[in-house]
Amino acid sequence: MTELAALVLAAGKGTRMRSERPKVLHPIANQPMIRHVLAAAAALRPARTIVVVGPEMDDVAACVAPATTVVQKEQLGTAHAVAQARRALADFTGDVLILYGDAPLVTPESLTALVAERRRPPAATAAVMGMRPASPGAYGRLVLEPDGALAAIVEAADCTPEQRTLTLCNSGLMAVDARRLFALLDGIRRDNAKGEHYLTDLVAAARRAGGTCRVLEAPADELMGVNSRADLAAAEAAMQRRLRAEAMAAGVTLVAPETVFFSADTRIGRDSVVGPFVVFGPGVTVGEGVAIPAFCHIAGASIGDRASVGPFARLRPGAELGAAVHIGNFVEVKNSRLGTGVKANHLAYIGDSAVGAQTNVGAGAITCNYDGIDKHRTEIGSGVFVGTNVSLVAPVVIGDGAILAAGSVVTGDVPADALAIARGQQVVKPGRAGAWRDARRRAKAAKERGKN
Ligand code: UD1
Ligand code: CA
Repeated sequence: MTELAALVLAAGKGTRMRSERPKVLHPIANQPMIRHVLAAAAALRPARTIVVVGPEMDDVAACVAPATTVVQKEQLGTAHAVAQARRALADFTGDVLILYGDAPLVTPESLTALVAERRRPPAATAAVMGMRPASPGAYGRLVLEPDGALAAIVEAADCTPEQRTLTLCNSGLMAVDARRLFALLDGIRRDNAKGEHYLTDLVAAARRAGGTCRVLEAPADELMGVNSRADLAAAEAAMQRRLRAEAMAAGVTLVAPETVFFSADTRIGRDSVVGPFVVFGPGVTVGEGVAIPAFCHIAGASIGDRASVGPFARLRPGAELGAAVHIGNFVEVKNSRLGTGVKANHLAYIGDSAVGAQTNVGAGAITCNYDGIDKHRTEIGSGVFVGTNVSLVAPVVIGDGAILAAGSVVTGDVPADALAIARGQQVVKPGRAGAWRDARRRAKAAKERGKN
C-alpha cells in the first residue's frame, strides 16, 4: 500500500482579506478555515500531516496541532511553500496530497478520488483537482492535451486571451508522487506576472521530465478558494447549505432551512424541529424530539430529549438542560444545570446556577449572580416554586419543595419545604384613594385661580 502525506499551505499573508488575523484562521461555521481542511484530510488517515506556516504564525501552529508545522520565512510562492517540507518528507515515498489552507469546503470523498486518480495505472506524476466555477476569474486555467492529459496550468495573470476563455480551472489540490516532487520543484523559476515560484508550474515541469499529469473534476462549490471577505461570505453560505442538508438527512426538521445557521460541530438528534431564524454557535448538542421555535440563539449548550427552547430564547455557554425542560420567550440561561422538567417560560435570567428537577421559575425571576466584582452560585432544589419577579441574590441555596413568594428579594438560604416572603408588607387604607384625588384637584384649582 502506498502511503499518504497531507501537506497544507497556509503561509500566505492573505493581503486581500485586509485583516490582522492570518487568513486561514478566519472562521467558517465558527471553526477556523484551516481546521475544515485538516478534518477533510484526516478522514483519509494520512501517515503524516504537515502545515506550512509563515513566520510569527504561532496562532496558526497552535490551531493545527498536533500536525507538524514548517515555517516558510518568505512568501515566495506556492512552489516555494511546498519546498519547505523537503526535510520533513525526505524519507517519504508515497503520495503527497497538497491542500490549500484557504480552500475549506473540500470533502474527503473528493480527496480520496484524487489520490486514486494519481495512482491509477499507469500511475501519473501528479493528479490535479479541476473545477468549472460560474466565473473563472482569477483562478489558474487547466490546459489539456487532445487526449485529455493535463498539459499545463496557467495562472490567470499569465494567460493569453485565448487561455483566459478556458472554463476548467485549478482548485489548487494536487496529489503528487513524493519521489519526483522535490526534484521538479527545483526546476521552477519565477518568470511570471507575480514573480513567484508557482506550484502550478509543476505540471509543465513533470511533462518536460517525461511524466504525465491528470485532471479529476469535482463540483466547484467544494473547491472555492477564499481570498477576500466576499469569498469568505460565499464559502460560509456554501458551508451552511451543506450543514442544513446534513441535519435534514439525519432526521431533523428545519422549517425554513435557509434561515438556520449551524456551527461545524452542532449535533442535533432526530425528530427535533428547528423553527425559522435559529442560530447555533459553537459547542451545541441537542437531544431527540426537541422543539426550538423561531428566533433563538444557542451556544455552548446541551439540550436534553423532548425539551423545548424558545421562541426568542438565549442559551449561553455552560447551559445544560435536562430532558423535557421548557425554556420560553426572553429567557437567558448561562453556566447552569437545569434538571428534568424544569420550566422557565417567560422573561427570566438563570446564571451560575443548579436547578433541581420539576422546579418552576416564574416570569421575571432573576439570579443576581454578579456583585460587580465576583460571580456567585445559586443552588435551587427540586420541585421548587420560584414566584414571579423573584430576585435570588447569590450565593444562595434554596431547599427542595420551597416556595419563594412573588416579588421577593431572596438574600438568605431557604430550607426545604419552607415558604419565603421577602417583600414590603401591603398596607390598605379604605376610601383613601378618593380623598387623595379630591385634595389634589382642590390644590390644582387654587393654583389656576392664582394665575388669573
Ligand atoms: C492559487 C493557484 C491557482 C488556483 C487557486 C485556487 C498558484 C500559483 N495558484 O492561486 O492556480 O486557481 O489557488 O484557489 O498556486 N501560500 C503559501 N506560501 C506562499 C504563497 C501562498 O503558503 O508563498 C499558501 C496560501 O496561504 C494559500 C495557498 O498557498 O493557502 C494559495 O495561495 P494564494 O496566494 O491564495 O493563491 P491564489 O492566488 O489563490
Ligand atoms: Ca487563494
